[in-house]
Amino acid sequence: MKQALEANKPLAAAADKPPLLKIANIETLYFDRIYALRGLTLAIREREIFAVLGPNGAGKTTLLKTIAGLLKDQPNKGTIEFEGRRIHRLAPERVSGRGIVYVPEDRGLFRELTVKENLEIGCWGRRGREVREDMEFVYGLFPILAERGEQQAETLSGGQQQMLAIARALLRRPKLLMLDEPSLGLAPLVARTVYEALLKIAQTGTTILLVEQNAKLAFSIADYGYIMEAGRIVLEGTAAELQQNQDVQELYLGLGGQDASPKGWRLYKKRRTW
Ligand SMILES: Nc1ncnc2c1ncn2[C@@H]1O[C@H](COP(=O)(O)OP(=O)(O)OP(=O)(O)O)[C@@H](O)[C@H]1O
Ligand SMILES: [Mg+2]
Repeated sequence: MKQALEANKPLAAAADKPPLLKIANIETLYFDRIYALRGLTLAIREREIFAVLGPNGAGKTTLLKTIAGLLKDQPNKGTIEFEGRRIHRLAPERVSGRGIVYVPEDRGLFRELTVKENLEIGCWGRRGREVREDMEFVYGLFPILAERGEQQAETLSGGQQQMLAIARALLRRPKLLMLDEPSLGLAPLVARTVYEALLKIAQTGTTILLVEQNAKLAFSIADYGYIMEAGRIVLEGTAAELQQNQDVQELYLGLGGQDASPKGWRLYKKRRTW
């Protein structure tokens, strides 16, 4: 059962504003029969960082792809509104045209093109001073990209590729930046660098929605979190509240000394509050 945690004061005040993204009761199916999202509801407020956490197969990637319009004729049910206007079942280019930019788990780079060429594609259709300022901003965030301008994207390290993917997404001036497991496969220090950059991006006014398995990292920057299991949101709250929640501590933060045996897991499942 969804357990709404008591919102703290500053967020409660922000909650008066209509959300930037509002998802109500969506269902997404693969091949008309595999339910990946089963009545999922969530809201994303402007200028905050939102994290969706959940185990493998929970439906996190499906959620981002559904928002981005990448799954044809999905969601099957429910509504998605961005800035008060319907975006569900729009073509992906129309969704991105509204200002929603998605960085997929595989980063989606043009692997045979250079770093500079990938960034130029990010600037497609834009020119002048604004573009130069944006380029300066991304080079300031990730100085390595300036140094490696002529290097082919596929020869970059995993961390550098993630930085390039984020930089390219930023050059499209997103209102909402969505990232699928930005820390995946990165060494802890590199993941930290990427997360610090996300925090700086959010400080410029870009709203961020990220999905992660690394809860500790996600909570280090997120304002608000949703816990997702089997295609639904089972728990939500501010990052501070979720980190205090016993189930979150045991399942997602590895605290609490839970017996890891299958028997212990079964007992635990009974006790779990969602
Ligand atoms: N292209 C697809 N065709 C059929 N089923 C799919 C497809 N993609 C995902 N699924 C199924 O939908 C469910 C949700 O998958 P999804 O990839 O969204 O989970 P996830 O939370 O992103 O997992 P992970 O943490 O492993 O990335 C899973 O049961 C998965 O097997
Ligand atoms: Mg995934």
